[in-house]
Amino acid sequence: MSKILCIGAGYVGGPTMAVIAKHCPQHMVRVVDMNGDRIAAWNSDHLPIYEPGLKAVIDIARGRNLFFLTDETIAEQIDWADIIFVSVNTPTKSFGLGAGRAADLQFWEKTARQILEYATTPKIIIEKSTLPVRTAEAMSHILNTNSRGVQFDVISNPEFLAEGSAIKDLEDPDRVLIGGHNTPSGKKAVETIVELYANWVPRERIITTNLWSSELSKLVANAFLAQRISSINAISALCEKTDADIEEVAYAIGTDSRIGPHFLRASVGFGGSCFKKDILNLVYICEQQGLPEVAEYWQLVLKMNEYQEMRFVANMVHTMFNSLSGKRIALFGTAFKANTSDTRESPALVVCRELLEERADLILCDPYALENARQDLGDQAQKVEFTIDPYHAAKGAHAIAILTEWTQFAELDYSLIFESMAHPAFIFDGRNILDHQELFEIGFNVYPIGKTPLQHFA
Ligand code: NAD
Ligand code: UGA
Repeated sequence: MSKILCIGAGYVGGPTMAVIAKHCPQHMVRVVDMNGDRIAAWNSDHLPIYEPGLKAVIDIARGRNLFFLTDETIAEQIDWADIIFVSVNTPTKSFGLGAGRAADLQFWEKTARQILEYATTPKIIIEKSTLPVRTAEAMSHILNTNSRGVQFDVISNPEFLAEGSAIKDLEDPDRVLIGGHNTPSGKKAVETIVELYANWVPRERIITTNLWSSELSKLVANAFLAQRISSINAISALCEKTDADIEEVAYAIGTDSRIGPHFLRASVGFGGSCFKKDILNLVYICEQQGLPEVAEYWQLVLKMNEYQEMRFVANMVHTMFNSLSGKRIALFGTAFKANTSDTRESPALVVCRELLEERADLILCDPYALENARQDLGDQAQKVEFTIDPYHAAKGAHAIAILTEWTQFAELDYSLIFESMAHPAFIFDGRNILDHQELFEIGFNVYPIGKTPLQHFA
């Protein structure tokens, strides 16, 4: 039996440990977090995150070999464990050197120091958080200052799950990446973690590399994914000028097996807690390494994303006769993508803030992400309405903007909605999930992404 501890019970730590516990009943898994409310939620029927399939996995393992604990007993937990996953948040630094770009490693370093202080027996330490390349070196330096002769092996095992499909991604991953040192104890530690995943992941999908390749691959994977979205979004702007259709273009290029079909959905922009922060981190590392051209190249992926968000808002303003002041607008979706309650870096909230600048009268609608949206908006939350009912949101509105690709929004009765709205009625489909021709025939003026608008006036 292995004794596994995870520090950090967030979007990654909670689901990942739940899936490990489910598939490895022979091992004990404990998850600690300094956020007592989060731990209380993990121990309740109202889990702290909305993630399809998560509750079923939790129900199998919680109380059997999976336990969520506050960090009051962190000393005891660290000493108990022989494998420690560190899955704390690594946001963009907001102060000092590298502010706005470098990763803020304060939570991660605090964890390293806690491990150093409380461990009395050998441990494998696993970087689960996304970290700058060569962070494991710093981790090793901190841990190896111990005078008790305790052996620590630091392993990189970045997480590739996407929110909304986290359980599927963990149950059936494209690959698991494990990076370690090429020393006898480093290799042994890697083998221990390979064996852990091999309980349910086919061995050919478990990739082992050196530590630095593993750390860097995580940043690069996110940068490449975001780059594809920025690329297709850049072309969506050109489609709107040329009567080409972005979905036809995406299909045509995506059938080339060298390009592939995934991550070619043009949208109002990408969001989420990681793409922006990880690219900023990559840019910062490149600059620090004296590679300004490489840094500039990746920075443009973010610039294009901001352009796409602003282009969407500008299109709304221009289309609605250059005046949104006092006009009721329903925003469908606050989550950064469908099937999650997460609103971190959500393009929906960027659009919301910009429309507030235009003094529009906003009503925000989302099935699961309203509470997080309210928190993220801070003082501005007082200026908007919230509802889970799209029909209520649309009533009396001049426009609807689709900002999250929830399937619910594609299944509404838009004839009914049209009747209840102010006319002319506008729909801005920032996710291309609606039937645009049908909406046009109902009477809407329709503005998709990367397609010719369908409007009832010249
Ligand atoms: P999160 O903010 O949801 O969770 C992190 C948790 O760590 C928080 O609950 C926080 O209270 C806790 N924490 C921080 N310091 C602690 C300490 N010293 N002791 C105990 N608890 C502590 O973050 P997340 O979304 O789970 O992301 C975690 C890491 O995983 C990040 O590096 C992120 O880049 C990476 N990642 C995230 C995703 C994702 O989909 N969210 C996917 C892959 C990788
Ligand atoms: C992303 C990666 O997909 C994961 O592999 C990675 O582990 C994770 O970041 C992370 O490191 O945090 P996530 O942000 O949860 O996962 O979700 P994605 O499915 O990647 O979507 C990100 C954003 O891009 C969303 O706003 C989504 O709507 C948008 N998107 C995605 C598009 O606009 N078009 C697409 O074709 C795909």
